[in-house]
Amino acid sequence: MSLQKDALAVRENAYAPYSNFKVGAAIRAESGEVFTGCNVENVAYPEGTCAEAGAIAAMIAAGETRLTEVYVVADSSHPVTPCGGCRQKLSEFGTSDVVVTMANLEGTELKMTLAELLPGAFTEAHMDKA
Ligand code: THU
Repeated sequence: MSLQKDALAVRENAYAPYSNFKVGAAIRAESGEVFTGCNVENVAYPEGTCAEAGAIAAMIAAGETRLTEVYVVADSSHPVTPCGGCRQKLSEFGTSDVVVTMANLEGTELKMTLAELLPGAFTEAHMDKA
């Protein structure tokens, strides 16, 4: 399946009773295997965990640590962009040239690299004196 189909399919399983905003994410790991995640909210922390974080967790649990492609989809007028925390998390496991495709249900897509999504990213290089 394509990343788009996988992201759309997992979005159906999102648990988002507080925001009513379902998000699906699919990431391709270095091996070629695809991992998916949806947002999962809870009453104490209604923002819950993001779809992207879920897909990353699935990849890590499967023993992979590098991602090469990302697809995020939600029912929004404009393609949904990852939150700040997810930009940092995606950057942990992907190089700056990894393309993140953001989409809505109408099929409008916006493509940006991780470098474009997180300019000036905090990296290990900043800790060279530690
Ligand atoms: N959300 C995601 O899962 N990914 C994004 O890229 C943006 C926001 C979720 C978190 C929360 O469950 C809901 O969308 C509203 O913020």
